[in-house]
Amino acid sequence: MRTPDIRRLFLDYFRERGHQLVPSSSLVPDDPTLLLTTAGMVQFKPYFLGESSPPKDRLVSLQKCVRTVDIDNIGTTDRHSTFFEMLGNFSFGDYGKAIAVPWAYEFLTDVLGLAPERLWATVYREDDEAVELWRRVGIPIERIQRLGVAENYWDTGGPGPCGPCSEIFYDRGPAYGREGGPAVDTDRYLEVWNLVFMRYLRGEGGDENTIPFVGDLPRPCLESGLGLERVAMVLQGVDTIHDIDVMAPVMARLGQLTGADVRAEGQRRPARIVVDHVRAAAFLLADGVLPSNEGRGYVLRRLLRRAIRHGQALGVDHPFLHDLAGTVVDQLGQVWPELTERRGLVEQAMGHEEDGFGRTLAQGARLLHTAIRRTREEAVRRSSTSTTPAQPVLSARPVLSGRTAFELHDTFGFPVDLTTEIAAEAGLVVDTDRFEALMDDQRRRAQRARGEARTQGDDRGRGQAYRTILDRTGATRFVGHDRLTEEGSIIGLVRDGTEVPAALEGEHVEVVLDRTPFYAESGGQVGDAGVIRTPDGSELRVVDTGLGAGGDLHVHRAEVVRGELRVGQSVHAVVDDDRRSATARSHSATHVLHAVLRDTLGDHARQHGSLVAPGRLRFDVTHFAPIESDALVRIQDEVNQRLLSDPEVRIWQASRAEAQEAGAIALFGETYGEVVRVVDIGNFSRELCGGTHVGHGSQAGPVRLVGETSVGSGVRRIEALTGIDALRYSDHERVLVEQIAALLGVPRSGEILRRLQGRLDALARAEGELADVRQRERAKLAERLAGKGRDAGGRWIVAERLDDPGVRDGHDVKQGEEIRALVDGVLAYCPSGRPGGAVLGMVRDGKAQLVLGINSAMEQLTAPARDLLRPAGRTIGGGAGGVGRIAHAGGREVNRLDQALAQAAHHLATSTRT
Ligand code: SER
Repeated sequence: MRTPDIRRLFLDYFRERGHQLVPSSSLVPDDPTLLLTTAGMVQFKPYFLGESSPPKDRLVSLQKCVRTVDIDNIGTTDRHSTFFEMLGNFSFGDYGKAIAVPWAYEFLTDVLGLAPERLWATVYREDDEAVELWRRVGIPIERIQRLGVAENYWDTGGPGPCGPCSEIFYDRGPAYGREGGPAVDTDRYLEVWNLVFMRYLRGEGGDENTIPFVGDLPRPCLESGLGLERVAMVLQGVDTIHDIDVMAPVMARLGQLTGADVRAEGQRRPARIVVDHVRAAAFLLADGVLPSNEGRGYVLRRLLRRAIRHGQALGVDHPFLHDLAGTVVDQLGQVWPELTERRGLVEQAMGHEEDGFGRTLAQGARLLHTAIRRTREEAVRRSSTSTTPAQPVLSARPVLSGRTAFELHDTFGFPVDLTTEIAAEAGLVVDTDRFEALMDDQRRRAQRARGEARTQGDDRGRGQAYRTILDRTGATRFVGHDRLTEEGSIIGLVRDGTEVPAALEGEHVEVVLDRTPFYAESGGQVGDAGVIRTPDGSELRVVDTGLGAGGDLHVHRAEVVRGELRVGQSVHAVVDDDRRSATARSHSATHVLHAVLRDTLGDHARQHGSLVAPGRLRFDVTHFAPIESDALVRIQDEVNQRLLSDPEVRIWQASRAEAQEAGAIALFGETYGEVVRVVDIGNFSRELCGGTHVGHGSQAGPVRLVGETSVGSGVRRIEALTGIDALRYSDHERVLVEQIAALLGVPRSGEILRRLQGRLDALARAEGELADVRQRERAKLAERLAGKGRDAGGRWIVAERLDDPGVRDGHDVKQGEEIRALVDGVLAYCPSGRPGGAVLGMVRDGKAQLVLGINSAMEQLTAPARDLLRPAGRTIGGGAGGVGRIAHAGGREVNRLDQALAQAAHHLATSTRT
């Protein structure tokens, strides 16, 4: 039986039993406690918790899931996969296990035709009722096993609903493992279906054997998960999940691409890993996740980079992931249309990641293998010479330094898990504490650079205040799509995160109204500004509007400019018309830009975030190379042409399904209700959008693209000005050009380029001549310095100060780079065959600097250059850096430079290799 039949039979079986079909949710859950959608129940968490009501008490779904907890098992067992499709039936306070158990049994045996004598069940050890139910449907008591919390309790791994569960297993037969049921061997006894009896609320903490219960769910529920791929494996009579109908073609394609025998011992595991990871990555990309170093982007990057590494192990030497992804899309695009729709994006993103990582993989792997070898040699040496370990003891195994893992991550893009895996294969553990500490430092530096300190405590208080208001009075009604003024009343005032009954003149306060024409920031569009007045003459200046209480309240951030405001007062709210119009222009321009980008760059170009503000917009688009300036000009032209053709902007409401059917573009990361608002512009743009727009394209005015930059891998940011701001920008540029012309002394701007080119050429010539002069001077200086070379037990040594006027003789040494060149120049004078070393020092800008170099004969005799210089570096109050035969040091102790030079000279003369 093929997967399409299994899906259909399951969904029909439960629809016939009163269940409503709910579409799969995105792999990116609408739930801050979870990184990815790991089960069918995830999208229903608010129903279990009683936070909102399900459309019906019986639901059924086919959910796409990604789980990476089992990543180490992929390819090793027959049954694990990162991406899988889960079929599930759900009851919210309706039926319980007494009905779910017989249905599950009937579906497996009667509908799918599984042999009843092959079925086993496990139950939570205290669940006598479940034992009895399984027994009653026909599973004999000896094939029902009672297990503990680790096996037979289910939750999402964090706070949320949980409950005991009961799992159904299929016995694949003695060829696949030991006798004794699932308690003994879960490879032979394959888990196919899990029924969870949700009852309790789990809190933070706990582990796999202990659950921190914090309460009961409002009503007991049931949820279930039947693994489509596993059931297919049984029904299709194949040995592994990788051989089922939707996966075998991908595996076969991998065989063609690599020329490897993907079933051969040694090739099997890497091949399965590649196929598994490409599947998961394709689905994640189609749901808008892009590779990055944080969060779910990191999960994706790790999957892709693992796939690339294992692909190379199979002998591929060219980018291949996009090709395999194509086969995944061919197999599953019918069931999961987003794969087909975003095929371009999926393939491009994979190609991009492969280009980047494929290039550094070999280099990084070399570095890692050297580090592994050193660590192991070191461990052997230490264990034979000493009993006290000098490095942190994390386990009995040698420890690969956290810095190496960090450098691999930072320079070569090795996800730390990849380093850990490769190290583990060589019997090493990674000092992950040190790695994390280095990552933290880096994050803090980045955060400081962005100035992103946030006052989260205040945010929490505010959130609480909004919730209280919402519970008391209900949601704000937004009327601003139709009008810019409205009569309403104040239903809440919040100051510094706390609800207050009144606000006085001069105070800054957040105001919540029952009805408002003010658009609240969302979907990238900034919030409205304006004024709110009371009948008794008090006035508030609204500077911005946002959403509160999960989107139900419009919160006006405002200052009381006159009088006093009290909760309960009626008000007249007026939106700043100019600002709103300028924002609407940007919003319509954004949709047009989106359409033009897709037409110009290709289907992979999708909106990945935007800012729509008065007179300007910022648009992030998935694209994997810089957009060349001539392409930008063409895009800008096309946007303006389309706006000038004055297309009508038409706004209509539809059900989500209708809108999708009509081809409306939905954005990644946005959640849409059942009824959606669709914005059409002419016949070329149709998007789901809650924002405000102009009525006709020409009202958006001209658009100027003013910037194109990269924001993270695979995302380009376009910045543009709209309306009057675009015109002002052009005027400003014209003035600038006139000023440049005046500076260059050319009468007409048309001659600017020729004149400027002439000036730049002349400058380049002068710089070249200057460099020659300096080079000649440096050569003379090197010769003079070499004249001071002395013999120290057969070694030739120079140690001099460069700022000594006698030495410098007019040649002004400016930078470390130049000192290094000088050291090389001096060493060239070392009598041939003799070990030679030179150390030069100077004080510049209140800082002492030292550069030390050694020739190759010296390198054979002494410690590395950096070690030779280190004590001198310390003397001047710094460390020493550098690689190979050259090292440098700097510090503030300018008075100790002579002493430091003598020290370095001493080490040059006496150091030996340890
Ligand atoms: N949530 C359960 C599981 O994933 C059943 O759907 O196993």
